[in-house]
Amino acid sequence: MVDATANIGVVGLAVMGSNLARNLASREGNTVAIFNRSHEKTDTLLSEHPEAKFVGTTTYEEFAASLTKPRAAIVMVQAGNGTDAVIEELTKVFEPGDIIVDGGNSLFTDTIRREKAVRETGINFVGAGISGGEEGALLGPSIMPGGSDESWVTLGPILESIAAVAEGEPCVTHVGHDGAGHFVKMIHNGIEYADMQLIGEAYDLIRRGTGKSPAEIAEIFTAWNTTELESYLIEITAEVLKQVDAKTGKPLVDVILDQAGAKGTGAWTVQTALDLGIPVSGIAEAVFARSLSSKPAQRAAAADLPGPDEAWTVEDTDAFIEDVRLALYASKIIAYSQGFDEIVAGAEQYDWDIHKGDIAKIWRGGCIIRAQFLNRITEAYADDAGLVALLTAPYFRDAIAGAQDSWRRVVSTAAAAGIPAPAFSSSLSYYDGLRADRLPAALTQGLRDFFGAHTYKRVDMDGTFHTLWSGDRTEIESEGSSH
Ligand code: 6PG
Repeated sequence: MVDATANIGVVGLAVMGSNLARNLASREGNTVAIFNRSHEKTDTLLSEHPEAKFVGTTTYEEFAASLTKPRAAIVMVQAGNGTDAVIEELTKVFEPGDIIVDGGNSLFTDTIRREKAVRETGINFVGAGISGGEEGALLGPSIMPGGSDESWVTLGPILESIAAVAEGEPCVTHVGHDGAGHFVKMIHNGIEYADMQLIGEAYDLIRRGTGKSPAEIAEIFTAWNTTELESYLIEITAEVLKQVDAKTGKPLVDVILDQAGAKGTGAWTVQTALDLGIPVSGIAEAVFARSLSSKPAQRAAAADLPGPDEAWTVEDTDAFIEDVRLALYASKIIAYSQGFDEIVAGAEQYDWDIHKGDIAKIWRGGCIIRAQFLNRITEAYADDAGLVALLTAPYFRDAIAGAQDSWRRVVSTAAAAGIPAPAFSSSLSYYDGLRADRLPAALTQGLRDFFGAHTYKRVDMDGTFHTLWSGDRTEIESEGSSH
């Protein structure tokens, strides 16, 4: 049997797993036990990185024996049944007090279920969202761990050693117990969907409105990356738009099939928001925009449906581009505001003590949605921990005040020109809905009461009311009663 020399282990050595293992091994004080179901991957990692402080293992027993106590293992396998299978094997060879970390993109309700089951064995189970893709895993991801306080004592310093660093602080925090970490990672991904859809709409409007080439639009994004929009996704948009296809010499973006894929985390964000009753309309539009893009038969059948009669041309190109930039910024604020609303609602529903400012902090580096303006979110929550809507914080209120004329012009221009801008427009409608003095929800309530006696409340007195709608007079049937 091997000696227990490793302070952390990694199970699952596909790209994310091996990069995370390499990241761990590169940090002072860490020795990393590695295990993969097929041994070739373990052998490859060992032979490609002979200098790394790895302990290669070929069985779960050997893996467990090579770890110091309390043992801690990060599972990096495809979310789903594979995760359950690995957990089952690890619980056979681990002991009470040991820690199993699921570093995949698991659904938070699965994490809650697994945590409950594993806890019965005395072993700690931690669902940890890890963001940053392959490069992040290797060089420093943003990490969102859930799980018990006990597990955080062992895990905290290890995760802090590998996380990205933003403004001197590691991008990892103990998010909350059981599924809290995976819940927050799910919201991260929902915001990622919205961010990418908004970028896509901005690109499409500029391209179709000004006729600029992808390479020229890449320069616009590069310039935007020096403004409030500074972020990883804006930066890589310029890279993608610049890319020329080696086979055809065309812009690569023009030869990529325009049907967006999805692994499901965006849909989970929206499904969960529906259950919680939180309007994440910008995120939802982003998810649906991917679905619409991936319906080739319907798109082909609809291709000759009529659009606007007049061709659209932009008169003042620079002014239009600036309008689009501000529309993007305002809509992005809405996406983050909606995402944080869902975090608040989830925390309440599942009894998690999530610190919103800390979440904004750990998203400043390493993750896909890392952005300069997350500092403003951290500040907003530091100034007012009970902030009910992010966009009401002074900084964001002023930002939207400065952007809204542009935002309205862009949305109305897109509608008139027949160019889809679902995330821009639904974000604007959300903003106008939230700030409206009166909403037509009053009429909805009237209709519900008419056809189903669902009752309504009044603006001028307490109680629950139902109107007798037949005849030419309406009467209050029940007053002060609760239905
Ligand atoms: C990250 C990413 C990562 C992955 C998404 C992509 O934070 O590193 O979010 O988790 O790229 O799962 O999701 P889709 O395939 O659904 O776009």
